[in-house]
Amino acid sequence: MNPANQMHHDLFERSLQHQAGHGNDCTVFPSPQAPLWATIASAMSVTRILEIGCGIGYQTACLASATAECLIETIENDPVHADLAQGEFERLALSDRITILRYDAESLLPNLDAPYDLVIEDAGIDYDKWLPELTRLTRPGGVLITSNLAGKLPNWDPRLPTEAMMIVRPQFSY
Ligand SMILES: C[S@@+](CC[C@H](N)C(=O)[O-])C[C@H]1O[C@@H](n2cnc3c(N)ncnc32)[C@H](O)[C@@H]1O
Repeated sequence: MNPANQMHHDLFERSLQHQAGHGNDCTVFPSPQAPLWATIASAMSVTRILEIGCGIGYQTACLASATAECLIETIENDPVHADLAQGEFERLALSDRITILRYDAESLLPNLDAPYDLVIEDAGIDYDKWLPELTRLTRPGGVLITSNLAGKLPNWDPRLPTEAMMIVRPQFSY
């Protein structure tokens, strides 16, 4: 395993350990798809990413490896998670490119300035209410990734997976 992958793997394991120790309400489920999202972000040459739900930083750190310059804002309302994530970003020398926004996502989203190349929702916010806002924040031609939207869509075929879904916002309408 190369050193960057090893660091990410270690952070994935620490996220699981944190969840096991933090109590029943802890919602840190590190995203297993994070390396794939980072590959897509790299292919898109992203410059600006918004993540909703930082946990202790696993997916954020993966995304930061997409390009050497991309800037990431990540929203986290649990102060324990935000503190642990900040420590991880400093240890990985990523804190100059990752900003943790310590707010409740649902109150902060309307105040954020679009556009982001990539928006990743991983906090379980109410999609019925917030999809238009997530779309506004994603630039035309950009990508919106939702962690739990698929299974909530009306008439979703139950044979299909219900977890992560990637939506490409068209560059042009026709
Ligand atoms: C599934 S975890 C994120 C996992 C992380 N992306 C990773 O891959 O390691 C969800 C996180 O969202 C945070 N969260 C939940 N609801 C939130 C809200 N309304 N605003 C901000 N953060 C929230 C939780 O505290 C938790 O850390």
